[in-house]
Amino acid sequence: MSNYMKMRVRNLNLFYGDFQALMDINMNIMENKVTALIGPSGCGKSTYLRTLNRMNDLIDHVKINGQILLDGIDIYSDQCDLIDLRKSVGMVFQKPNPFPKTIYENIVYGPKIHGIKEKSRLDEIVEKSLRGAAIWDEVKDRLDKPALGLSGGQQQRICIARCLAVEPDVILMDEPTSALDPISTLKVENLMDELKKDYTIVVVTHNMQQAGRVSDYTSFFLNGEIIETDLTENIFSNPNDKRTEDYITGRFG
Ligand SMILES: Nc1ncnc2c1ncn2[C@@H]1O[C@H](COP(=O)(O)OP(=O)(O)OP(=O)(O)O)[C@@H](O)[C@H]1O
Ligand SMILES: [Mg+2]
Repeated sequence: MSNYMKMRVRNLNLFYGDFQALMDINMNIMENKVTALIGPSGCGKSTYLRTLNRMNDLIDHVKINGQILLDGIDIYSDQCDLIDLRKSVGMVFQKPNPFPKTIYENIVYGPKIHGIKEKSRLDEIVEKSLRGAAIWDEVKDRLDKPALGLSGGQQQRICIARCLAVEPDVILMDEPTSALDPISTLKVENLMDELKKDYTIVVVTHNMQQAGRVSDYTSFFLNGEIIETDLTENIFSNPNDKRTEDYITGRFG
């Protein structure tokens, strides 16, 4: 079992204009584990997730201070190349968002950007990524068909495959199953369990059962602060803070 801290977040603050959305966030993100982020709507979960691969850079009026270290290197420093960062830290969104292209083209999109051209190599990546996302058998005979012709659950696994295709180290998932039916949800949850052998996963979820099922660590956010982070079993059976207990027992949020 790895005890390596893949990412270390230190004294992170984020402002949208005058509004402070994240307050003095500290977190160690453990390698080959699933970390779940829970908390009421508007508490800053998505904002925080986006800081981990600098997706907030795309939003105007965002100011960030503090440190986020990936393998010891501050991702907000000049030492960090943004293209490399987005390759190392991939993201899967709430709504499946495949490109309006074929299944094959969706998967090879990232690898092509990173300079891979050889057809046989791209074919390999497609099969490996689709297998990794547990959707190869469902789509192997229709790789040249539009990804948008698939079901929502299949589209989400295509997006996970697209993310795997560039061989990230960390995968960020923002409510990846909230638009999916229960069977697709279960597939994606089982997939997370498989993927953590090779990747480090951070997942936002509103579903407490899901957090309990898929994660090793859970972090409870409230009003832009982390109230506590602990082993998931501790958070759900014996939280340190009354506010965590109130939230997980459904007394607010
Ligand atoms: N682009 C933005 N500009 C200004 N304020 C924003 C922006 N995005 C989010 N916020 C604000 O920052 C706070 C945190 O939002 P965020 O989307 O991170 O919450 P969340 O925990 O992901 O909520 P939900 O569970 O509803 O997805 C909210 O008050 C939100 O209104
Ligand atoms: Mg959100």
